[in-house]
Amino acid sequence: MTTPLLSSPPPSAFPTPFWVLETDHTGYAFGLNPDGQLVHTYWGPRLPRQEDYPRPEAIEEWSSFNRPVHLITEEYPGEGGPKYVEPCLKVQFADGTRDLALQYAGAETVDGVLNLHLRDATYPLAVTLHYRTHPAHDLIERWVTLSNEGEDVMVLDRAWSAQWHVPAGEHDRLSHLTGRWADEFQLHRELLTQGVKVLESRRLTTSHHHNPWFALDHGQAGEESGAVWFGVLAWSGNWKLTAEVTDFGQNRISLGVNDWDFVWRLQPGERFETPASLGGFTARGFGAASRHLHDFIRQGVVPRGGELRRVLYNSWEATTFDVTEAGQVELAEIAAELGVELFVVDDGWFHGRDADTRALGDWWPDEKKFPNGLQPLIERVKALGMEFGLWVEPEMVNPDSDLYRAHPDWVIHYPTRARSQARNQLILNLGREDVQAYLIETLDRLLIEHDITFIKWDMNRNVSEPGWPGAPGDPRELWVRYVQGLYHVWGTLKARHPKVVWQSCSGGGGRADLGILRLADQIWVSDNTSAPARLEIQEGFSQVFPANTMEAWVTDAGRNQVPLEFRMHVSMAGSLGLGGHLAHWTEEERRVARREIARYKAVRHIVQFGDQYRLRPAQKQAFSAVQYVSKDRSEAVLFAFRTHIARPTTLPPVLLRGLDEAGLYEVEGVEGVRSGAAWMNVGVTLTLGDFQSTVRRIRRISK
Ligand code: DGJ
Repeated sequence: MTTPLLSSPPPSAFPTPFWVLETDHTGYAFGLNPDGQLVHTYWGPRLPRQEDYPRPEAIEEWSSFNRPVHLITEEYPGEGGPKYVEPCLKVQFADGTRDLALQYAGAETVDGVLNLHLRDATYPLAVTLHYRTHPAHDLIERWVTLSNEGEDVMVLDRAWSAQWHVPAGEHDRLSHLTGRWADEFQLHRELLTQGVKVLESRRLTTSHHHNPWFALDHGQAGEESGAVWFGVLAWSGNWKLTAEVTDFGQNRISLGVNDWDFVWRLQPGERFETPASLGGFTARGFGAASRHLHDFIRQGVVPRGGELRRVLYNSWEATTFDVTEAGQVELAEIAAELGVELFVVDDGWFHGRDADTRALGDWWPDEKKFPNGLQPLIERVKALGMEFGLWVEPEMVNPDSDLYRAHPDWVIHYPTRARSQARNQLILNLGREDVQAYLIETLDRLLIEHDITFIKWDMNRNVSEPGWPGAPGDPRELWVRYVQGLYHVWGTLKARHPKVVWQSCSGGGGRADLGILRLADQIWVSDNTSAPARLEIQEGFSQVFPANTMEAWVTDAGRNQVPLEFRMHVSMAGSLGLGGHLAHWTEEERRVARREIARYKAVRHIVQFGDQYRLRPAQKQAFSAVQYVSKDRSEAVLFAFRTHIARPTTLPPVLLRGLDEAGLYEVEGVEGVRSGAAWMNVGVTLTLGDFQSTVRRIRRISK
C-alpha cells in the first residue's frame, strides 16, 4: 500500500536533478533550477508521460524589490536572502548569523522513501527532506530531519514539515475547521487574498479551535466534483498552518510545529525530526478528498483500523462522579440487554474522586465505591457478555491528590508564578522522563491487574505558565518534548497491551489528528451530545476522519425534544455508543434502542469501512443526508435527517452516490428496483417531519 513510485528521469534527458512523485492519479514534480535551488513545478492530475512534467526554469527578477529568490516556488524555503515569503526553517548559528543558504547535496531512495539532502553553504547544518508516496490514497507524505554536524549549538526558531505549492486559480478558496469546546469541527470556506492566513494551536494539544487540516480549491469545487488540494499535519501539540498568497499570486500552504514560543537547541551531533505532513490532490471534489484521508487513516494510521468497533455504553453522563459498584452493575445489566458489547466506566472510579476538585493522579480504585476493587464489576460485565473499559486522564493532577503532594515539582509551572488551575487541575510535565516512567508504571499496573480492553484517555485543560524549571535544554522545548513524551508513554502502554482499544478525548474533540491516531483507535468527537448539534460537528469531523474513528453516543441530551430514534440515527452514522441514564429509560425507549442497535449491527461494516458520501450538508441546513457504500458497491446505507424547520413540506429528492451505474439496486422502504444510475440521478424521495430521520439499507440485487 505504501509502495512508492519515485522517479528521476535519466540524467541524459535532463541535466539537473528532477523528481516526479506519482500516485495512482496524481503527479508531483520538483527539481533544481539553473541556479541550483530546489523548486516545485507541479502538483495535480497524473500526466501521461514523464516528459510532460514541467521542469524548473530560470526566473528573472521583477525589480530590485523582488529578486528571483522571492519569486521562485521553493520546495522547502529556509529563511535567508531577499525572500520575504513564509519560510519553513529559521535557524540561528552560534556566531549570530540568522540566514540560511541551503544547497543541494544529493539524494537517494531508501525503503521507498526519497531522501533529498540539502546542506548550508557555510555552516554544518544538514537538512534532509523525506518523501513517501501512498499511491492508492493519492497522498504524499513529507517530513524533514535537521542534523547539527558541527561543534556549536544551532538554535531552531522554526522547523516546519512542508510547504505545499498549490496552483493559482480564479477564486482560490481555503476550507478549514474551527470551533471551541462543545462546538468543534465547524467547516468554513473563505476566499484567499494576498497575505497570510494563520491557523494554529498554542494550547499544548491540537485544540478544539482549529484542526491541522486544509483544503484548497479554485472556488468551483463541490462535494463530488472539482479540483481540490488538501493536507494535514500529523501532530498532537502546538501546530501552525499558514496559507499565504504572495504578492505574485502564488499559493503556499505551510504546516509544522508552531513556532510561537518555540525554540529548539540543536546540540552538536543531534537530529531533530519534524512530524509528517500529508498532502493530496483529487479532481473529484471535497468528498473524494475526505475519502482519500479516510482510507489512509483506516489502513495506514490507526493500527487496528480494520477492526469493527463495538457498540459501547459509557456511564459518564448518567452517573458523573456518583459511581458505585451497584449503580454500574445496574447500568451494565440494562446495557447488555439492549445489545451493548462494551461497558465503560468513565470518571469517578478512582481513589477519592468524588468531584472534579480532587484525586486526579491517584489511579487506583476508590476503596469506598469499590471495596473489593474493580474486579467484581469487571467479572459481572464479562458475565453479561460485554467487554470492560475505563476512563483515565493520565496527564493531569489535582493539587488535592497524593501524587501532587508527593511531587509538586512534576507539573508545568514557573516557580515565581501562581499555578493557574482549570477544572481544578494542573498539567504534569510529560517532557520529564521521571513523569513518563511514573505514568507507564502506574497505568501498566492498572492494565495488568484488570481485564480491561478499552481505555478512554482524556485531557481536560489547556496549558498556562509553560515553565519547566531544570529543563535539560531550553525550557521552550516543552512544546515538543511534552508531545514526544505523551507519544512515548502511550506508545509503550499500547505495545505492552495490544488487546486494548484506545480512545482519544480532550474534553471532546480537543486532540483529533493523525498523530494521536497512531495510538488511539477512536476519538470522542465532542462533549456536545445534542443530536442536531452533533449532525454539524460530525459532518465537520468527517472532512478528515472516517466514521469508525468517530465515537458517538446517544445520551439524554434533548430527550424531551428530539425523538430517540432520531438521536440513535445520528450516532449510528459513526461508531455507536449509548451514554444516557438507562435506568431512567422507559420500556418504550429501551425497545427503540434495542431495535436500533440491532439495525446498526447489521450495517456497521458499511458505515465503518465504506466510502462516505455527504449527500446533503448538515451545517446550517435543516435537511441533511449522508450515505456509506461498501467497497464492492454491493450494499450501502442512507441516513437522512430533518431538523427544526416546518417548511418546506416537500423535501427535494436525495441523489445517491457511489453505486454501480448499471447495477440494479433496491432501497429499503421504496418500491421497485432501479439501476444505480437511476438512484443517483432520480434519487430517493423521502417524507420526513420535523426531527424525523430515516436509515435505509441499499442492496445490489444484480450487476
Ligand atoms: C470530559 C470528557 O469529554 C467527558 O466525556 C468525560 O469523560 C469527562 N471529561 C469526565 O471528567
